Amino acid sequence: MHAITPSFTPSGVPTSYYNLFAAAKLEQAPPLDPQSGQPMAPDKLAALFPMALLEQEMTSEVHVPVPGPVLEAYAAFRPTPLRRAALFEKALGTRCTILYKYEGASPVGSHKLNTALAQAFANQQQGVRRIATETGAGQWGTALAYACRRFEIDCSVYMVRVSFDQKPARRTMMELYGATVRASPSEATTFGRAVLADNPSHPGSLGIAISEAIEDAVTHPGTKYSLGSVLNHVLLHQTVIGQEALRQLDELGLFPDVVIGCHGGGSNFAGVAFPFVHHKLDGKALRIIAAEPQSCPTLTRGEYRYDHGDTAKLTPLLKMYTLGSDFVPDPIHAGGLRYHGAAPQVSALVNRGLVEAQAFEQMETFRAAHTFAISEGVIPAPESAHAIAATVRAAREADQAGEPRVILFNMSGHGLLELGAYQAYMQARQAESKPAP
Ligand SMILES: Cc1ncc(COP(=O)(O)O)c(C=O)c1O
Repeated sequence: MHAITPSFTPSGVPTSYYNLFAAAKLEQAPPLDPQSGQPMAPDKLAALFPMALLEQEMTSEVHVPVPGPVLEAYAAFRPTPLRRAALFEKALGTRCTILYKYEGASPVGSHKLNTALAQAFANQQQGVRRIATETGAGQWGTALAYACRRFEIDCSVYMVRVSFDQKPARRTMMELYGATVRASPSEATTFGRAVLADNPSHPGSLGIAISEAIEDAVTHPGTKYSLGSVLNHVLLHQTVIGQEALRQLDELGLFPDVVIGCHGGGSNFAGVAFPFVHHKLDGKALRIIAAEPQSCPTLTRGEYRYDHGDTAKLTPLLKMYTLGSDFVPDPIHAGGLRYHGAAPQVSALVNRGLVEAQAFEQMETFRAAHTFAISEGVIPAPESAHAIAATVRAAREADQAGEPRVILFNMSGHGLLELGAYQAYMQARQAESKPAP
């Protein structure tokens, strides 16, 4: 197969995105038109996305160049650190070597900025003046708000109502960067008004917020829609993570036996994992694990079939693991993992057995994150805590088998704006440890 990264900048940022499906000639079922059920014509998608992103969505190029202005923007925070979690290893009492790629080092605190910058730039180049999007926990909205600011585009964010109410700091961040933020379901769209008419205190869901953002984009001139996960071009942008990790590990003379990422729509997982899938296809013995919540078990318990990406059934039909487009998951703290579907490319790899999926119960993820926080000092995003729980499980299995492993996980974001979730966890722990009356 092809080289993964033809070149890096002097500071170690890849100058191209890595297209695994083109490199390995892997098949992907095409998106279907929701009305006709036929493969989607690209010009229909052009109402939502700029051409440069649609080209990336369908490209058969293996190395897709990172545009100069985006590379310049990455230079402010990339390469992100690759750290050995030696104190965490000690706290676990494991003989495994644990390393993590720290995407929380981005200015907005998560990996989402990698694609937000690429998307905002592509829109600016096409003369787009305004972008509409949805956000669950707020990480994606924050990243896009900043990226739009940087490339001088207006940004309209539909934020799932439970998060809007629970996370006022996220809203402040987005507004500070200049975005307009509404709780979804909102009065601003026909679909939002219909949902509210049915249930005025609806808590919202990502599926509903996506429908509202799409409606906003198609009903406002000069506006396009932007998605923070799931689609091929979003996954492509995130491959800077895995490419950097490969090089950083190489400098340490290491190669992992296990690669782990948490999975919501699939973008940070694909970002860290796809360059390693390349090595797996080349014959390296390697486990690649996607970690998801038990309360939204898309990859472990969903069906592999065509489904809509949103509740109003406006998006193309995608072949993916799905819990059904009207599934409304429990309001767990890892808001970014509450999505009924999964990236078609990740789904295809899970279906072929190249990638494993594991589901974790919320308390287990917080316990793992707590151990990490008190050893390494870094407080993980509740989403990333799923990758840490999978790391703990993999380390325990390796220790029991007497085969210490090198484990790499992606820390997709920090949890410094999610302290309410940690507060609730500590209260739950206290309640658990009280002796029964
Ligand atoms: C910190 C963090 N990690 C992970 C995710 C899940 O998204 P994805 O699966 O696309 O990486 C999110 C989504 O909001 C997030 O904010």
